[in-house]
Amino acid sequence: METRRIQIFDTTLRDGEQTPGVSLQTEEKVEIALALAKLQVDVIEAGFPVASPGDFEAVSQIAARVKGPVIAALARANEKDIATAFQAIKLAERPRIHTFIATSDIHLEHKLKMTRAQLLERAEQAVRYAKSLTPDVEFSAEDASRSDWDFLCQVYTKVIAAGANVINVPDTVGYTTPLEFGALITYIRENVPNIDQAVISVHCHDDLGMAVANSLAAVAAGAGQVECTINGLGERAGNAALEELVMALNTRREYYRALSNVNTQQIYRTSRLVSTLTGIAVPPNKAVVGDNAFAHESGIHQHGVMNNPLTYEIISPETVGVSRNAIVLGKHSGRHAFEERLKHLGYDIDAETVNALFVKFKDLADRKKMVFDKDIEALMVEKAAVRPE
Ligand code: KIV
Ligand code: ZN
Repeated sequence: METRRIQIFDTTLRDGEQTPGVSLQTEEKVEIALALAKLQVDVIEAGFPVASPGDFEAVSQIAARVKGPVIAALARANEKDIATAFQAIKLAERPRIHTFIATSDIHLEHKLKMTRAQLLERAEQAVRYAKSLTPDVEFSAEDASRSDWDFLCQVYTKVIAAGANVINVPDTVGYTTPLEFGALITYIRENVPNIDQAVISVHCHDDLGMAVANSLAAVAAGAGQVECTINGLGERAGNAALEELVMALNTRREYYRALSNVNTQQIYRTSRLVSTLTGIAVPPNKAVVGDNAFAHESGIHQHGVMNNPLTYEIISPETVGVSRNAIVLGKHSGRHAFEERLKHLGYDIDAETVNALFVKFKDLADRKKMVFDKDIEALMVEKAAVRPE
């Protein structure tokens, strides 16, 4: 079986900007979009143009200035939103209109106040209109994971017939779990007769901490596009984290028989750029891009990694653009790691002095959680006091 290419649809600038407390200026959005192009994502969702003049301006700037990826703009399923989205992206090399409407009964009854029949008609009209403006149209069935599966299949059948070339299956409220979501994707493949004319996309939120796992289950079931954000930003608990999804595919490519086009070496710097511009810190224990992602604290682990990184590392830090292992010394560190650190800092000392310094180091590590290079330098200043006669 050959390796499939999974399209990475980045929505950091749209769903990611819906992170509580985040608001980006146009130039900051352009800077992020340029970084995403370098990262080689396939699609950048630049914003929701009808939402505000600022959003319209940012999407227009990105469409005009960022080359490479498809540039998508979000629109509800009505003419005004769709026309405004197209105005904002029309200068893009490859513009995409992404139109959406909710399909679950709870949204139909309490938000849209529409019947299923009315919804079917509206979705079809929206896609037909979008298709008259641009050849690339994505349709999202908001709250798909809580929708009736047969009705969902009817909706997708209609919108594909109307011209949608991507049909998105959002887990809008992060409700689903991997086995169930994989089964839903299989059901759609088996019950939408014209499914071969469209790519199946998924868009998972992280309310139960399963956005990446659900996206991977969907890939295993045949999804061809995954929507995600840098650092997992997004509405409430966020979206599937791009860096985790991409590195899961990269690390387990033989299992999934699928890969992305992302240039993984750009992952770390893109993550830091987004963190700096949004003001949302990356937690130290965050997978792939956290400060501790490649740090080995215990002596046993440090020793193993020094002998062969494969002992405790499934991703080499260089793969995501981190230059070397951040070996943190702490109370669990062994003499070997301590001596290696001294050598790395340029000290060439005899074994007896290392032993004496190691005792001091352990004492310090007991008091301090982490011992940094500057602490070791300070120990060296005291070296005279511990040098053997
Ligand atoms: O979560 C969601 O359903 C969305 C849609 C607009 C795709 O963000
Ligand atoms: Zn979303």
